[in-house]
Amino acid sequence: MKDKDNEFFVIKGLGGKKTLSGEIAVNGAKNEALPAMAASLLFRGELAISNVPEIEDIARMGELLEGIGMKVEREGSNTVITPGKNISSTIPDAISKRFRASIVATGPLLARTGKVSFPHPGGCVIGARPIDLFLEGYKKMGASVEETDHAYEIQAPKGLVGAEIFFRNQSVTATETFIMAAVLANGKTVLRNAALEPEVEHLAKYLKICGAKIKGEGTPTIEITGTKLLSSRGEKYAIIPDRIEAASFLLLSALAGKDVTVTHCVPEHLGALLEALEYSGIKMEIGKTSVRVLGERYKNGDIMPMNIKTHEYPGFPTDIQAPMTVFLTQASGESIVFETIFEGRLNYAAELIRMGANILPMDTNRIIIKGQTPLSGKNLESPDIRAGLAYIIAGIISEGETVIHNIYLIDRGYAKIEERLRSIGVKIERRSHEA
Ligand code: EPU
Repeated sequence: MKDKDNEFFVIKGLGGKKTLSGEIAVNGAKNEALPAMAASLLFRGELAISNVPEIEDIARMGELLEGIGMKVEREGSNTVITPGKNISSTIPDAISKRFRASIVATGPLLARTGKVSFPHPGGCVIGARPIDLFLEGYKKMGASVEETDHAYEIQAPKGLVGAEIFFRNQSVTATETFIMAAVLANGKTVLRNAALEPEVEHLAKYLKICGAKIKGEGTPTIEITGTKLLSSRGEKYAIIPDRIEAASFLLLSALAGKDVTVTHCVPEHLGALLEALEYSGIKMEIGKTSVRVLGERYKNGDIMPMNIKTHEYPGFPTDIQAPMTVFLTQASGESIVFETIFEGRLNYAAELIRMGANILPMDTNRIIIKGQTPLSGKNLESPDIRAGLAYIIAGIISEGETVIHNIYLIDRGYAKIEERLRSIGVKIERRSHEA
């Protein structure tokens, strides 16, 4: 096996030229596939999931589920998960610490077995990422919560009970976790200020097909009435296209495309970004499941600067904030990017400054970007999944060569990204120190 830590990307920049062309397809959404796999704990028999991206975080979720006694079979983008005879309530430390989404397994596991023990989850360093909403929610559902030096021990020996839960912050994984926990609880649970993200809504819709009683998914108030273990009734769970991946490809195409079509996406889920691209002067043809980005732009070929404020869905996603900043370095004038969801999610900007961007921090959550500035290739270290992709985009539009290290953090979220980018003309290679 290749040592992932030794791999890096080498990108030959286009020096601002717009030459990319062809089609690039979007994979299934990481952030739906992860809770979908955890949802297998709610099932009596097997759960078959399709359009699962072949990425590192999915491999980790597979290992987590196997670690507690589930059988996980993966073949390409298909995954089948079957409950084992003995399901353990202890989520293994080593795996949980590698990705934040491990937290979504705690809800269905607690609901199924009456207890769960897990360490503080790891994941991208983009802010404090507390789990208070989870611990408080479990208490409201009648569980005892004990925190030891290295683990949380949650117990509900008689099962969880339905509760009223108002989320102080809208949280994607907390909403998913409590929908799943409530499916096997006794009585009715009402979630208020629930997340509206399409991944959450689609998860609930699939669980309903399998027997769950859920109302209001896709709205801020979700009602779940507890029931028994679910059955897929032969219906596969097809993961929706990854709107973050689609958005990143669109930003790249808007910067460096002659004529690129992003396929297998849901434009309806991309509202905030499409509006921003339109405003900035990018010419697009929006289809039912694709978006074509044409090389020419409105307004003299300049990109209009703009102010962006990240927001829960349907607002501008925090996960495309970093690629958007790269885009705005090429706008003619001053833009402000305001990150409102995570407090540590602008740190990547320092490297863009080294590449030639004119970015001024206003405070920990806001930066001013003055464009247009040409970028030049540099040696970079990927700081997290999404900023890693932003660096790839920056490398592609730069003059000269960019080398990106720490690409495990890009592989966590994007499958074979270099092969797919090469298909539209990007000069990118994966190399390894041993090669
Ligand atoms: N929050 C709390 N307490 C909690 C949980 C969350 O205060 O117990 C706060 C967070 O600190 C943050 C806000 O709530 O300020 C929203 O965070 P959320 O819980 O929604 O984030 P998440 O569920 O941990 C998911 C995605 C992230 C994405 C965010 C926001 C998954 C697996 N992860 O994280 O995706 O950035 O929602 O949309 O769904 C990524 O894919 O690279 C990624 C980081």
